[in-house]
Amino acid sequence: MIKPNPFTPQSGWEPRFFGGREEELNFFEKVLSQSIRDQANHVVILGEWGTGKTSLSKQLKKIAQSQGYPTAFCPLSNISSKSALKDTINLIAQEMLLGLPKDSTAIGMENILNELGKLQPQVKFTKFLVNLWQVIEAKMAVVFIDDVQNLDINSGVIDTLRSVLSRDEVIKSTNYLFVLLSTPRGWQDFIDKHNPVGRFFRKRIYLENLNQTETSEIIDKTLNETEISFGENIKKDVYDNTKGHPYELQLLCSNLYDDQLQDTITNEIFNKALKNTLRELGKDYFEALYRRASDREKEVLSILVEKNKPLSISDIRSIMIIEKRKAGFPIANIKNFLYRLYEKEIIKRRDTGEFEIIDPMFTKYLEIFELKKGV
Ligand SMILES: Nc1ncnc2c1ncn2[C@@H]1O[C@H](COP(=O)(O)OP(=O)(O)OP(=O)(O)O)[C@@H](O)[C@H]1O
Ligand SMILES: [Mg+2]
Repeated sequence: MIKPNPFTPQSGWEPRFFGGREEELNFFEKVLSQSIRDQANHVVILGEWGTGKTSLSKQLKKIAQSQGYPTAFCPLSNISSKSALKDTINLIAQEMLLGLPKDSTAIGMENILNELGKLQPQVKFTKFLVNLWQVIEAKMAVVFIDDVQNLDINSGVIDTLRSVLSRDEVIKSTNYLFVLLSTPRGWQDFIDKHNPVGRFFRKRIYLENLNQTETSEIIDKTLNETEISFGENIKKDVYDNTKGHPYELQLLCSNLYDDQLQDTITNEIFNKALKNTLRELGKDYFEALYRRASDREKEVLSILVEKNKPLSISDIRSIMIIEKRKAGFPIANIKNFLYRLYEKEIIKRRDTGEFEIIDPMFTKYLEIFELKKGV
């Protein structure tokens, strides 16, 4: 019988085989032992879209649980009402109630929140943490807060968390370890706005793409127990195209798996699967990303797509003047356009000052679907 597709191209889906990330897992084990010895060393995990933040946090949750620490997991959505602070703190508290005590209904914990009803969020959360701790039968409790970038920067949630967690009564009489997950740009906004936040959530993990060996291992182990395997050349092509981006590799492999069921993978079949992958990535993410750019910014972007390599401001300026000769293009504004593309997370900036498109698959998507150059 044909086995169902083993790849997991969905945000937040736990992969069938979790690969790589050894450094991050070891780092977390160290944080756990330090936090139990001294005091909680709260952690921030940063990673671009689809790099595996949620999947990693699920692994970390298992590690914490295997060491006997209860855990709670709280994904945040976009709450942008006037009462965002109150609502978000309540949400976090409720998720903690759900995950941390052995039996929350038996001890009537749900009443604790209601009793604290009218207090200001900061005071309420402090009392909540202290009260809850009394019924947690463990030396430490670990709380994951996912998608922190969804918080409104002015909501004050992160600053409230920081100030509550640094209060004496919380430090002395409880032991919660908080793990926050965010995109790098989302987190940077909090740091820029509230300086102490950066100093407080000191321990950082930055999730990069997976390397070629890890990518290849993930493909092999995910295909284990199916009748299918991908040849070395296919695995290399997957890596060359995705550069080990976890979501992109799951999606491309998922498409290849469906095709391989019918036939062996030729170049033609690979290109078809790649094109389908790009189309799906377009719907998921790339299309909306491209729409953030203004018409002028798109013109600058098209140079980066065409040259397909990092370029400096002066490179782009001279390409625009010498090769493109676009009458009326505001050359003097190229720097501004680039910085705006950077702020919109469409391009990134190297330490050397050159700009490049955030992701090779995005470059390919733009080439094929937006700038219509064909495959
Ligand atoms: N270490 C890994 N090994 C194999 N597959 C992985 C790994 N990490 C993540 N994935 C896969 O990559 C995809 C994206 O993972 P995940 O949703 O955890 O990323 P994320 O950073 O939380 O994304 P988002 O920006 O959508 O929140 C999922 O399909 C997941 O199954
Ligand atoms: Mg996620």
